[in-house]
Amino acid sequence: MNDIDRASDLLRRGGLVAFPTETVYGLGADATHSAAVRRIFTAKGRPATNPLIIHVADATTARRYATIWPESAERLAATFWPGPLTLVLPKASVIVPEATAGRDTVGLRVPNHPLALQLLRAFGGPVAAPSANRSNHISPTEAKHVRQELGDAVDLILDGGPCQVGIESTVLDLSVAHPTVLRPGHVTREQIESVIGPVELFSGSIQSHIAAASPGQQLRHYSPHTPAYHFELNERDAILAALAQSSERVAVMMQGRIESSSTSIVPIVAPTNPTGYARSLYGTLRLLDQNAYSAIWIELPPATPQWLAIRDRLIRATQPAEKLKFGI
Ligand code: TXA
Ligand code: MG
Repeated sequence: MNDIDRASDLLRRGGLVAFPTETVYGLGADATHSAAVRRIFTAKGRPATNPLIIHVADATTARRYATIWPESAERLAATFWPGPLTLVLPKASVIVPEATAGRDTVGLRVPNHPLALQLLRAFGGPVAAPSANRSNHISPTEAKHVRQELGDAVDLILDGGPCQVGIESTVLDLSVAHPTVLRPGHVTREQIESVIGPVELFSGSIQSHIAAASPGQQLRHYSPHTPAYHFELNERDAILAALAQSSERVAVMMQGRIESSSTSIVPIVAPTNPTGYARSLYGTLRLLDQNAYSAIWIELPPATPQWLAIRDRLIRATQPAEKLKFGI
């Protein structure tokens, strides 16, 4: 039996299979199998209130799992699938309630990775798959990250090499009156608007006690263990000056050269284009986290549409610098 057959066989028997997508690695289970889906939540330590994305091989299959398939879904699927866009639509009953955390909507996506597509075709049905990390930790962009995160809790890991996009899919809610981006991603709001017209952006962080449109969008998410902070370009000089005076060894990640002769600052040069930045982001955070820095400082890229998804992930992974009373 080859790996794909083995993986699809495991899914059929209620197993957990981690697989590569173009965004991040997913932790997959049969979305029509309650016990299998519950295993995902246990393996990740994920709150049962946070719904999973359902992966399918193509748009024709996706339609089976939504009770309404609007023209907007048809056009977006034709434009962006396979690809990093998740569409939230009214849910068909065959998807078990555990998978959508009891919601009557379902997030559907066709991932753009050859191994994922082979697996989804071989399995034939819907595969519930969150990112294959422990809840609230950094998403895995290589097979070895999955092993580090989940160990033996996963029955099989398909290794498809490093993920090309590197951050999670754009989540677009089509179940509401005005289509709304719940999570920004590689597919931008502007790209979506060029296909279906005006789209809202779900803004602001959600306090966890308030029922959230997309529960994964709480303020703290995707974090490293090392204390990590973000700052804006206009805060750079004040931050570097303050860090240079401290005896603690810190990593400072920003675009371009860091003008500091201080030995306490370890400079990390970040890519200047959004594609490269996204691709390396989680791997870099993971490495920095393993390096015993006292803290990780990250300068946010510009607040422009093309950087929106990356800023979103960085802001969720880190705390604002103001908290540290740097006088800024
Ligand atoms: O790129 C991705 O989307 C990756 C790969 C594996 O496909 N998956 C991923 O899954 O990031 P996860 O579980 O880490 O994030 C899913 C996000 C969460 O923010 C969740 O709240 C939201 O999608 N979501 C899923 N179903 C939803 C629904 N029915 N309504 C609103 N939000 C939903
Ligand atoms: Mg996740």
